[in-house]
Amino acid sequence: MAKVVAGNWKMHHGPVATERFFSRFRPEVRDDSVRLVFFPPDLSLSTAIDSARTRADFGVQNIHWQAAGALTGEISAEMAKEAGAALVLIGHSERRHVFGETDAEVDRKVGAAVRAGLVPVVCVGEQLEERRAGRLDEVLRRQVGAFAGSLAGVAEFMVAYEPVWAIGTGETATPGDASEAHGIVRDALGALGRAPVLYGGSVKPGNAAALMSARDVDGVLVGGASLDPDVFARIAEAGAGAG
Ligand code: PGA
Repeated sequence: MAKVVAGNWKMHHGPVATERFFSRFRPEVRDDSVRLVFFPPDLSLSTAIDSARTRADFGVQNIHWQAAGALTGEISAEMAKEAGAALVLIGHSERRHVFGETDAEVDRKVGAAVRAGLVPVVCVGEQLEERRAGRLDEVLRRQVGAFAGSLAGVAEFMVAYEPVWAIGTGETATPGDASEAHGIVRDALGALGRAPVLYGGSVKPGNAAALMSARDVDGVLVGGASLDPDVFARIAEAGAGAG
């Protein structure tokens, strides 16, 4: 299976920077044996879709679970789909830990994504204290267990394992750490089968190949290193080599 190399731009790259990104990224993509995915900010989604002119899928970084309503500042799965998104990140650690999103809310968002026909990319991951307390297994099973029921019979979804202590810190899980956690995620998914499980947390050109060659690692979700077209292209190349 082709490795997934996904960029989560977070709150970076407005429409102007998005166009500039793709004009530099496009000539760098030599190998189409990876599945490229971009999660730009909502305001840059249509610019990304129009200016990419490279084989890639696009998604949004968050949705509300309602289809419409008096919910200032929110967007729905239906709107994201209409605007050209194919995927949606759900339960990213910043949503969980900065904005207080709960397991129950993550599950409602997964249900909304499925109803609208978006591919959910659901993020899970333990905090440093939880890892130190030997609670990796328990935390991942609780997080996966909260939404797994909403994915029964769903043709396509992904899970991203992102240890909170590795996000934006320069600390990366070893390929062995990633394999162990991905094994737990797969086990917790049980009958849901072999959905791609991505690793995220300080992925860089220097560690991407080793991570993507590790057992049970089907790709990467890249934050900081996805913002620079040359750097992200090198990660995509690493994915092509590991696929
Ligand atoms: P990072 O972020 O690559 O900057 O650590 C990963 C993520 O939050 O998805």
